[in-house]
Amino acid sequence: MAKTASFSCSNCGAIHSKWSGRCDDCGAWNTIAEDAPLSAGPSAKGLGAARGTTIPLSDLASTEKPPERTKSGIAELDRVLGGGIVPASAILVGGDPGIGKSTLLLQGAAAFARRGIHSVYISGEEASAQIRMRAKRLGLADAPVKLATETDLRNILTTIEKEAPDLVIIDSIQTMWLDTVDSAPGSVSQVRATAHELTTFAKKRGVSVILVGHVTKEGQIAGPRVVEHMVDTVLYFEGERGHQFRILRAVKNRFGPADEIGVFEMTGEGLSEVPNPSVLFLSENDTPASGSAVFAGIEGTRPVLCEFQALVSPAPAGQARRSVVGWDGGRLSMILAVLEARCGIPFAGLDVYLNVAGGLRVSEPAADLAVAAALLSAREDIALPKGTVVFGEISLSGHVRPVGQTETRLKEAKKLGFTQALLPDRSKIGTVAGLKVQKLPDLATMVGDIFGAG
Ligand code: TYD
Ligand code: MG
Repeated sequence: MAKTASFSCSNCGAIHSKWSGRCDDCGAWNTIAEDAPLSAGPSAKGLGAARGTTIPLSDLASTEKPPERTKSGIAELDRVLGGGIVPASAILVGGDPGIGKSTLLLQGAAAFARRGIHSVYISGEEASAQIRMRAKRLGLADAPVKLATETDLRNILTTIEKEAPDLVIIDSIQTMWLDTVDSAPGSVSQVRATAHELTTFAKKRGVSVILVGHVTKEGQIAGPRVVEHMVDTVLYFEGERGHQFRILRAVKNRFGPADEIGVFEMTGEGLSEVPNPSVLFLSENDTPASGSAVFAGIEGTRPVLCEFQALVSPAPAGQARRSVVGWDGGRLSMILAVLEARCGIPFAGLDVYLNVAGGLRVSEPAADLAVAAALLSAREDIALPKGTVVFGEISLSGHVRPVGQTETRLKEAKKLGFTQALLPDRSKIGTVAGLKVQKLPDLATMVGDIFGAG
């Protein structure tokens, strides 16, 4: 029988029957490469007459206790993990090269080790001397972390089998290779195979494994998305170049809530925790400026206040520009359309720029009202009243819909010295003393009451 080749995308892991320049699944260019051929195992030949053994089936009801988590003591990391690390779990930490993954995990390994978790840190990228130097600079040299530089997974598995640690960190999965797979380290087949070996090992031996994965722009190297489905927890470490802060975001977690974030600041002495991120994302400007609106948002289980900034200026003849940083461009178009169709405020012939200060990315629809407020404020050149926070979802009909966790948002605003809130009518609020609330049934009310336009 002729060998059938298979191809896969290094960006999203989709499997294709033939090569093409662009992946249909994720739209990335030049990311499809041929997979190494599978050896002719039972699946290649069909099951035939050979029978498997029976596996024991059990009931749903269990008397087992929930897994015992261990905290690192780094609160921002523990929160994102869902309250600490679960034994025998596989965790992926993805992020751009240079964002601080190795720093984070070295600090994490040291923190876990100091709490009695037997931790091993294996680097395929840096020499042990280099890591020791970094540890010294970060004040971690005394932490009982075991260190090695190795890329051959066979040696790594043999070593950790003998050492029997509680936690193994593999930095990075793209540098690991297995001699049974006939392709270069970093290829989709190698990354898949080594990640599979490591996660199976984790489950069998009760060891927690953290895999580091670089987000790659080129197609030659497989990205972390290729292994997302194999692990229990997927965390991404994000940040903007030119900004000091970093966000660790849980995008999948079998042992805790997804969408949780941990906020860190990169300093000369490594990553330090930012327990109150709202302070970081609000600008220090005390006098209200037009085009700015503070959004009382929720990230994971925590309230985070941030500032939306809008700029509206006459467009040169031709196409008006719409430029967004930190929010969804489609959602901006929708709000501009609602403002025009339901409130009679046109933006045609105007360039519109929208930015979330500090480099945060907001994905909550609850930010709609804050975006509309920033846009109107910029267009009318009227600043919102001092000390105002805004939140609420806008529907296509122009109504303002209530959103969840109203009280948490208001309490955070109050804590940070805000004095009033614009929020949806029908919001369920308890008593947040000292905060003046103005409930809006629809967008047109905000246009009329706050900006005296429309
Ligand atoms: P690193 O953890 O090596 O990134 P990654 O593993 O994601 O590729 O971090 C690299 C950057 O962090 C590097 O540009 C220097 C900076 N950094 C600091 O600013 N302070 C520090 O204490 C450390 C260790 C790194
Ligand atoms: Mg690194």
